[in-house]
Formats: sequence, C-alpha cells, structure tokens
Amino acid sequence: MNRTEPLSGTSLYEAAESFIRQCYTELEKEDEIESRLSEIEDEIRAHDHYEHTFEEIEHGARMAWRNSPRCVGRLFWETLVVRDRRDVDDAAGVHQECNRHLEEARNGGKIQPTITIFPPAVRGEDQVRIWNHQLLRFAGYETDDGFVGDPAQVELTNYCLERGWEPPRTEFDFLPHVIQIGDRDPKLFEVPESATGRVPITHPKYEWFADLDLQWYDVPAVSDMCLEIGGIQYPAAPFNGWYLATEIGARNFADEDRYDMLAPVAERLGIDTSEPESLWRDEAVVALTRAVHHSFDAEGVMIVDHHTVTEQFEAFERREKAAGRTVYGDWTWLIPPVSPATTPIWKNKYEMKMVDPNFYYQESPLEGETPPEIVSMMSTDT
Ligand code: ARG
Repeated sequence: MNRTEPLSGTSLYEAAESFIRQCYTELEKEDEIESRLSEIEDEIRAHDHYEHTFEEIEHGARMAWRNSPRCVGRLFWETLVVRDRRDVDDAAGVHQECNRHLEEARNGGKIQPTITIFPPAVRGEDQVRIWNHQLLRFAGYETDDGFVGDPAQVELTNYCLERGWEPPRTEFDFLPHVIQIGDRDPKLFEVPESATGRVPITHPKYEWFADLDLQWYDVPAVSDMCLEIGGIQYPAAPFNGWYLATEIGARNFADEDRYDMLAPVAERLGIDTSEPESLWRDEAVVALTRAVHHSFDAEGVMIVDHHTVTEQFEAFERREKAAGRTVYGDWTWLIPPVSPATTPIWKNKYEMKMVDPNFYYQESPLEGETPPEIVSMMSTDT
C-alpha cells in the first residue's frame, strides 16, 4: 500500500501549508514562510510531492512526539535526536541504520530519545517498511505445552521461522529485523549483539526473584508506526524513549497473553492465589514493577516510575499552556496500569484529537495481523 494522501483528508498543499506556518513560527523564521510555501506549491504541482528540509523533519518529528496523545513522556519532546536517513533505501542499509540507532540511543545506558527517518512514501516509488513492532523484541513460540517467549510476537516469529530462521527457542530470543522494500519479499537480518542490551531482573529484597530468570531489553524503539509531517508520510521511522517500569512489570510480564508471571510471583511471595481478595495479583504486580525498576538501575539503564513520569507530564502541560498550545491526550493510555489514582493526572480530563504532525498506526504487512483499534487515528506508545 502506498499512501500518498495526507491522513487528515486535506490536500497535500493545505497540509504542508499549515505545518510550514506552525513550524517556521516556532523556529522564529516567519520571514521565510511565504517563499518556502511558494517553493512547495511549485514542487507539488510538478511532482505531487515535496521534500522536507532537514530542519523541517527535525522540528516536525519533535512536534509529532509533542502531539502524541497516548504518550505520557512528552516533556522531553525538544530533546529528540533526529537521524535523517532518507537516502537509505535498501534493506541491508535500513537494518544497519536500525542497529546504529539502537547503539546511539542506548548511549551507555543514558538513553537518548531518537528517531531515524527513512524515505517518505512517494507515489510510484518503492516504500520502506519495517515489519517488526519494535527494533528489539523477543520472539514467541506456540508449543504443545503453551507459549515460549512473548506470545504477542507469534505471527512475526512464525513468519521468520517459515523464512528459515533458526533461533535457540529460549524465552528471550531477539527477533531478526524484517525489512521490506516495495512489494519484494522482505529480507531478514539477525540483530548483532552490539545493538542489543539485556537487563536481568532481580528484586531489591527477594533473592529468589533472580530464579524466575526474567530479563527485558533496554531500548523500546517502536518501528511499525507511520510518521506524518505536513501531509508527507514516513512509513519507516523508528523512534525510542526510555522505559516506564510499569510497561514491563505491569504489562509485558503481567498480562495473561504476554509473559503471564503474576501467579508464579504471588506463589513465591507466599500469597494465596485461590481467592482474588487476597490481592495476590496486586502484590505480584507491584513486586514485578519494583524489580524491573531496581534491575534497570543496577545495570545503569535509564527508566522512570509512574509517579515521576505523571508529574513530568503535568510540567509538560504547564509548559504547553504557557506556549499557547492545547495538550490533547488519551486518558486511558496516560494513566499508569498500577495505582492510577495515586498519580496527579488521575483527576484530569483530556480531549482526544490527532493533530499533524503525528504518529499513526498503519496496516501491518503481516498476514492475520490487525492494527490496534482506530487505524490511522491514534498515536505512539504501544
Ligand atoms: N509499551 C511498549 C513496551 O512495553 C513500549 C512503547 C514505547 N514506550 C516508551 N517508553 N517509549 O515494549
């Protein structure tokens, strides 16, 4: 699928115009607006497309983060490092740039929010697509005795297996990068050790926690969303921030259709799991989240807790208000899955609206995979 119309339904020029006006105003380059717009108008007339300057994609990508209604980490939108790789259009090159992205974003544990932007969707030209949901993600295998690994990744894992991938089949095998150019068969690339980072999970108080043999990776880099700036779509534009401990402790490890660890943890804690009112799930989810945070700290990998990040979000709201902008939000995603009512944003109301630039879900090229709800409506943080 080659999407070349702006997702907002306006014409390309209208989308470009509203972006350029806002972008150049924020960058205090108002005097260049009219000349840039007439250039873009000519380019669109001739090619039904226009090319962003580096400054435009850099600020545009930062605006897209700032506009992501589901992201609670937006306070740091201005620090996003933008890697312009619009000239990389072969699968091996994309893979290599994804590896470099991971290394640079990891930054020795002091995680640097980063986005790598590959070529835009242009009518009649081959589109770059990264099939992976994230640049680092653990494979999942369906076996006769249940799942091994991450059940959320079974489809992509099966595809890789069909394509001849031979993994060790542990609970934590990194999936290869699956990169497609145009409608050719995707190519598979094993992710080199140098691009990966693993954090073994231990608990500050419970020594037995290490025996659960849990681990997670350090850099969450979402790679399957489409970045749209001024009506131009970038279907391959992986981006990362740092983790929020609840994402791993209270969802990836806790969800029944993920690693499903609540009962094993509760049992080790010695809590009766036969009655919901013993609150075994609640105690287990807190123990897991605490362990995740502690382990990232111990490895020197940046992570944040849900109390701190929601306070940061309120600081973001104050700043945006001062700048005369409205903060849109999806409350169901902004509140944390652990003790949401103890955070300052619990009582807040947010209006949900997708404004350009933004990150959109796009149809998964994987057979049998459905994109999460509202296709091309919602944003970051999955
Ligand atoms: N929730 C996703 C996961 O657990 C990560 C999404 C992006 N998160 C982030 N902190 N930037 O892998």
